[in-house]
Amino acid sequence: MTLHGVELIRLEDEEEVAAVVAAELGAAARAGQAIALTGGTTPGLAYELAAEQEPDWSRASVWWGDERCVPPEDERSNYFLARERLLDRLSGQPGAVHRIRGELGAEAAAREYDEALDGVTLDLVLLGLGPDGHAASLFPGRSTLDERERRAVPAEAGLEPFIERVTLTVPVLCAAPEVLFIVTGESKAEAVERAFGRPPDRDTPASLIRSTAGRTRVVADAAAASRLA
Ligand code: 6PG
Repeated sequence: MTLHGVELIRLEDEEEVAAVVAAELGAAARAGQAIALTGGTTPGLAYELAAEQEPDWSRASVWWGDERCVPPEDERSNYFLARERLLDRLSGQPGAVHRIRGELGAEAAAREYDEALDGVTLDLVLLGLGPDGHAASLFPGRSTLDERERRAVPAEAGLEPFIERVTLTVPVLCAAPEVLFIVTGESKAEAVERAFGRPPDRDTPASLIRSTAGRTRVVADAAAASRLA
């Protein structure tokens, strides 16, 4: 099957996936890049390994691709995951941590983040993939997919947890020279096929996210990549 605009890094299992993603994060941190992190459950191990391998993130700045509208100490927040598994384990904190302040509510938090991103190009965007093909909080068929002006917008959740969210928009994600998807597990195999093995489609938002001028890579384990030849 032809891949659509992505390079596939196919690995055996989730440990190998985490190690490769951790190495990418560490290199970006060392290079002092602007790094957008993802939420969900998949990246936790990669965050831990990244902190072990590169504990000094003082030259980097950290952003998020999306956030749930809960306070930062809420376990469902994407910031909380990154703090527990990555930031709290570093010896050198990032020069800037640009959290999406979900506790302000989606409208206000999106407006604030949109302003913070003015003039910023993210260097590395890390994204997960939902079983429905969503990435960041860009869900299938929603109007958020059509946003071309704003850099961050409010988003309704299409899957659990059903909490309102803030998401970066397609143009901002595609402007990054490095877009890296992390995907593991058999439950993602169909979404992987739709997102990377078929032409772009609004029903599979991840299929719309490709680095315009750089590269888009997918780091997947054998189970997640099983439907790609
Ligand atoms: C979120 C995300 C989201 C996530 C996928 C995959 O806030 O929910 O950032 O886009 O990456 O839903 O989630 P899992 O890693 O939990 O499968």
